[in-house]
Amino acid sequence: METTKPTYYWDYIKVDRLLGLQGGLEEDCSKISTDEILFVTVHQVFELWFKVILENLVDVRDLFKAEVLGNEDMVEVVTRLERCSTIFRAANQHWDVVETLPPREYLKFRGKLMPASGFQSAQVRQLEILLGLAEDERIAFGAEGSHLAALRGKGGAETEASRRVAASMADLPTLKDAVLAWLERTPIGGADHHAGSHEEFIDQYLATHNSELDESLKMAKTVASMADDDMRLNDLYDKERASVRAFLKPEDERTARIRAAILFIETYAEEPLLAWPHRVLEGILELEQLFVIFRQRHARMVERIIGRRTGTGGTAGVEYLDQTALQYRIFPDLWTVRSLLINPLVAPGLAGADFFGLRAEH
Ligand code: HEM
Repeated sequence: METTKPTYYWDYIKVDRLLGLQGGLEEDCSKISTDEILFVTVHQVFELWFKVILENLVDVRDLFKAEVLGNEDMVEVVTRLERCSTIFRAANQHWDVVETLPPREYLKFRGKLMPASGFQSAQVRQLEILLGLAEDERIAFGAEGSHLAALRGKGGAETEASRRVAASMADLPTLKDAVLAWLERTPIGGADHHAGSHEEFIDQYLATHNSELDESLKMAKTVASMADDDMRLNDLYDKERASVRAFLKPEDERTARIRAAILFIETYAEEPLLAWPHRVLEGILELEQLFVIFRQRHARMVERIIGRRTGTGGTAGVEYLDQTALQYRIFPDLWTVRSLLINPLVAPGLAGADFFGLRAEH
């Protein structure tokens, strides 16, 4: 008779193997300081969370690859995105733990790390690549492609890290491309979706937006006190008007469709058929915000512990990290649309309202 083998916690979770991994280069916790054990452990905790986020985001990207993103898939996308954000939010709390490392204690073992650095974290690069950060959008310093070179071993040899990142680069589309393709298909105009319906929507929207700006300018002028305030305000509002128009009427037709779709979903977010697409966009924005917070929070922790010296990975340190926080935006259009939203009470009427609102026929 076959006996059922019991499962033990330690076998399933691999506890012993896991607890044997915090000994640093010495491979032995008793030979390194408690502070160094903390330093190694917190990096490992981050790497584990990156792994789970990556797994989930690949699934999200795969759902977007389908020709049609059905209702159930959309719910799944939102659920997974929210999970990733929850993990990221929890991981961002770990910076508090790193900050319990006294700077002088860190300096005792920092020398051992050269040239190791989080800059060599393959999983962070994989995350950026999967999300859609393009190679030419990266901050250049030193040798071209130095973030990839940093993953290679002595004499430029391939490593597990460089292989992982190369595999991510080959694994297309990126989440960004997949999401943009989905947005491009948004049936602006509802059942009557036709060529040019996005332009009609944008023209109506711009007219309302301009009236809102006129009203705001009028109000601003009533409290203007200095002699040249009127001119300054006119100038400010003219610039805003021009930049909104340039954003919503780009030369490239595809970009125009995508931006119109984001604005459309945001404007009519409470319509039943647009509520879930809106949550998808919200989920992506939130995830990106948490990634930016990760970068900002890491930079402030680094400044607190090692100041503004050159990093072990060979970058300018905090200055470089702050630049990444400021410049790395994968979904800039989602952010820009937030600057142009109007009061929903005066938004143009929704074309195809029956279609989006599932309203009963009368
Ligand atoms: C005492 C603690 C830490 C210090 C002083 C520190 C310092 C730095 C510095 C100076 C850089 C810039 C690259 C370089 O020249 O080395 C960097 C990059 C990086 N660090 Fe840390 N770090 C610490 C802990 C962590 C932890 C716990 C993580 C979690 C995984 C992490 C993840 C990263 C990542 C992903 C980068 C690359 C950023 C990018 O290129 O966008 N760091 N770190």
